[in-house]
Amino acid sequence: MSTLKIARIVQLPPLLLASLLFSFSSLTTPLAHADSTASTPSPMGKPLDTGSITRLAPNIYPNGQGLPDGMGLAKNGSVLYQAHCANCHGSKGEGATAQGLIGGDGPLSAHDADKTILTYWPYATTLIDTIARSMPPAAPGHLSADELYSLCAYLLAENGLWARDQPMGPKELAAIVMPNRNGFIRKFP
Ligand code: HEC
Repeated sequence: MSTLKIARIVQLPPLLLASLLFSFSSLTTPLAHADSTASTPSPMGKPLDTGSITRLAPNIYPNGQGLPDGMGLAKNGSVLYQAHCANCHGSKGEGATAQGLIGGDGPLSAHDADKTILTYWPYATTLIDTIARSMPPAAPGHLSADELYSLCAYLLAENGLWARDQPMGPKELAAIVMPNRNGFIRKFP
């Protein structure tokens, strides 16, 4: 094969690419133009306002930073749990279609370890974060801060980590020391 032919073959892909890019841009330019001058917003959803972003994606850290203001009671949490959670997690938190939220058997070193909130989770603040951002799955982000604290108070009380009649707020939740708090090896400082 001559040097010229090799050069042609090697050059073909960039040429193809260029012509493809050209036809693509000639297709997209009018659309982009129409978009930037459009007075009506796109029919595909709507931009999230800051309030919705905070509601749907709270930034709650293990040490309690970012916890919402609020206060809840286990007895209210119990009612909320039966109404919004029991269907999937079981009426006593024993698990149904979704995993159990109350109880759990050790040891964690077992081959089929039972990794539950009680046996595995190192921080109680993860509980409010998980519920706030994802539960119930059909309507995440719709529970008020008081409802969230009530659910946490209920689940933690049922797990023997909280006194049932004690009001729970951000300070109390962050102060709870979970049984497996020191069961993790910190890889980064
Ligand atoms: C429609 C079923 C459904 C309902 C209702 C529901 N959950 Fe869940 N929940 C799930 C599923 C499925 C998972 C597992 C999600 C995953 O692992 O990604 C889960 C996971 C969780 C977890 C994490 C458990 C773990 O050990 O990792 C918590 C905590 C939780 N749900 C709390 C609640 C609370 C509180 C409510 C009521 C406000 C609720 N859920 C309602 C289906 C449900």
